[in-house]
Amino acid sequence: MTDQKDVLILGIESSCDETAASVVKNGREVLSNVISSQIDLHTLYGGVVPEIASRKHVERINQVIDQALQEANVTFDDITAIAVTYGPGLVGALLVGVAHAKALAFALGKPLVGVHHIEGHISANYIEHKELEPPFACLVVSGGHTHLVVVKDYGKYEIVGKTCDDAAGEAFDKVARAIGLGYPGGPKIDRVAKEGNPQAIAFPRAKVGDNVYDFSFSGLKSAVLNYLNSCEMKGEEINTPDVAASFQKAVTDVLVDHAMRAVEEYGFTKLAIAGGVASNSALRAAFESACEEKKIAFYRPSPVYCTDNAAMIAVAGYYEYMAGVRSDYTLNAVPNLKLGER
Ligand code: KG4
Ligand code: ZN
Repeated sequence: MTDQKDVLILGIESSCDETAASVVKNGREVLSNVISSQIDLHTLYGGVVPEIASRKHVERINQVIDQALQEANVTFDDITAIAVTYGPGLVGALLVGVAHAKALAFALGKPLVGVHHIEGHISANYIEHKELEPPFACLVVSGGHTHLVVVKDYGKYEIVGKTCDDAAGEAFDKVARAIGLGYPGGPKIDRVAKEGNPQAIAFPRAKVGDNVYDFSFSGLKSAVLNYLNSCEMKGEEINTPDVAASFQKAVTDVLVDHAMRAVEEYGFTKLAIAGGVASNSALRAAFESACEEKKIAFYRPSPVYCTDNAAMIAVAGYYEYMAGVRSDYTLNAVPNLKLGER
């Protein structure tokens, strides 16, 4: 049931290869969450093809939005405002969502709120953890980002660490390709690693520069490639589950180590994780035990809210809307939008 005082946000997400729409009530209650994934199409090419992604978004966006309204049992009239991802992401893909949201806002006379994709990922934690409120620390690990973020308040962020090269998800995808698992790499490594020994191969845990919270994954990726090459040269058989498990352990160790160090040094009692890689089962388990040991409250979205979805955009849009943020019809796609920028 919705009543007049409820704030209903229609969220739209099209920054990469998922066309998604969702209706969220009062910032925390998901009434619908429709995701049309293009993974099967891009699998043929071993990764996301931007041109194909844009075209598919155009084909699917109307239907996805209609379905989101239907499943929420509401009409456009009931919607308070429209929230849309406007960056970062693939420019052509973002543009489809942004243009569509602008057209809807104009035609319906509803407010428009541009949302940062990473703010969306962080906000996914509010959906199932009704008690969670800032401040807290959040590790954002996706295909394009590895950020250690201090969430000071709703919409207020400070990045304390980030990757100097590859994002964690990118490393998963590249290593998966190298060991013949294909795209998308993260979920496949997650699955195969369950059969392997994480101690089998000693892959490096990268240390970087001056900032102890920064990350680097390109050295690890090279170490895996070198290991594979040397096995091939020596004619040794490659144990794929062991490589997957050992690589995954190397990534997990560094992510947990940095995040826990930040939590301790900044004196946080709450830690959240977000983004596609946050659905990794080994990472979730490692954080659960690290947080339990240190008596830190640990928050993570269900896997469906870790990978790209529009519910997280509607949630972030709700808090921006309540803070008075409004976008006008000049809103444009910003492929390299920085967190906290408008
Ligand atoms: O957040 P997301 O859906 O899109 C971006 O904003 O990038 O993240 C996608 C990334 C991909 O690199 C994918 O391989 C990775 O998240 N991923 C995973 C898992 N599920 C998705 N990585 C590790 N384990 C998983 N279970
Ligand atoms: Zn994402």
